[in-house]
Amino acid sequence: MDLLLKGGRIVDYNTDFHGDIYISDGKIVEYGENLNYSCKTINCDGLVIMPSFIDMHVHFREPGYEYKEDIHSGSLAALRGGYTYVNLMANTNPICSSMEIVDYVLNRARELDLIDVHQTVSITKNFDGETLSHIDDLESTVKLLSDDGKGVKDNLVMYNALKLAKENGLTIIAHEEDESLVCFDTRLSENIMTKRDIELARSTKGKLHFAHVSTKEAITDIIKAKNEGVTITCEVTPHHLALYDNDYKVNPPIREKEDVKTLINAIVDGYVDAIATDHAPHSEEDKRKGACGISGIETSFSISYTSLVKDGHISLNKLSEIMSKNPGELMNVRKGKVKIGYDGDLVIVDLDSRIKVDSKNFASKGKNTPFQGKEYYGKILATIKRGIVKYNGGIEYDN
Ligand code: DOR
Ligand code: ZN
Repeated sequence: MDLLLKGGRIVDYNTDFHGDIYISDGKIVEYGENLNYSCKTINCDGLVIMPSFIDMHVHFREPGYEYKEDIHSGSLAALRGGYTYVNLMANTNPICSSMEIVDYVLNRARELDLIDVHQTVSITKNFDGETLSHIDDLESTVKLLSDDGKGVKDNLVMYNALKLAKENGLTIIAHEEDESLVCFDTRLSENIMTKRDIELARSTKGKLHFAHVSTKEAITDIIKAKNEGVTITCEVTPHHLALYDNDYKVNPPIREKEDVKTLINAIVDGYVDAIATDHAPHSEEDKRKGACGISGIETSFSISYTSLVKDGHISLNKLSEIMSKNPGELMNVRKGKVKIGYDGDLVIVDLDSRIKVDSKNFASKGKNTPFQGKEYYGKILATIKRGIVKYNGGIEYDN
């Protein structure tokens, strides 16, 4: 099946031009000006075409917490947000510590045929904080390990995990939280674990990716270590960029204005590898009982575009780099660029159109958002995976 996108502003990490993209057999085959193919055609006049987004940090809750989200509702939410590839975290029930659960999730996603997914496996077996033996049983479909939702308390366990990850070609995603400190100083709790893990990565040379970096001290230490050649990468979330002095419950918490400024400067200076949503859907009741998290995948692009590009900090190219190209490279998939041979995974967006966040309309089961009622620029009009329109938010086209 072929698809021609006609007459849009085509933007990825290093291109920005007016033209067409032709997708055949799921791959980008040609892009340029005045392409002519007789196939399904979408008129993109006045619209922007970008690689669809890739999210390194998502909670779809299946198996075990399907009342909060499942792979079906999560995938629909991802598509509405312009995402066609997401990395699912391991804090399901049971915890994802085996190939059995990985295979269950991957099969379910394949069966649904909505988006592509990677399933992360826990660093420690069942999040017990100590056992690493399950890592030897993993197959090559697994690229990432994380105890996200929890820190790894024991220094030697984290040291050994990084060594094992290196031997097995895996990357560890670190949720930086010291559980003994977090009750009275969440900032210190994040900062001290970030410092520890920088040193462990330096010593082991294991690949380490810092999840949801939120403090100015943590990002400053990460920048310093990157400049020293330590093999680390990092992500920030849209909510840690758009909000400060706000007590909406997320982990790590929303920080202060100075933290937001330092995180944005780190993006501008090229030290932040990815924007990741930490999409964490919860039921209303769980939220009332104090559950941490934001249902964030459907608002991620609009919030990031408005607070980073519209507000004049970075170009749309740079946003595409951290929402598509870099996460694609980190996850080793041929997605995230407008490039011949890459998957025809694209979004069509109207940058001038304003959206008003209303979680009642979310495809996600999680309606938990601190952005309710707020307005942002940048509406996702269509999300295309391998040349097929998987989400149509208001484009008209003929077959
Ligand atoms: O806010 C959060 N929610 N942070 C986490 O680390 C875990 C997540 C969740 O699973 O709900
Ligand atoms: Zn998370």
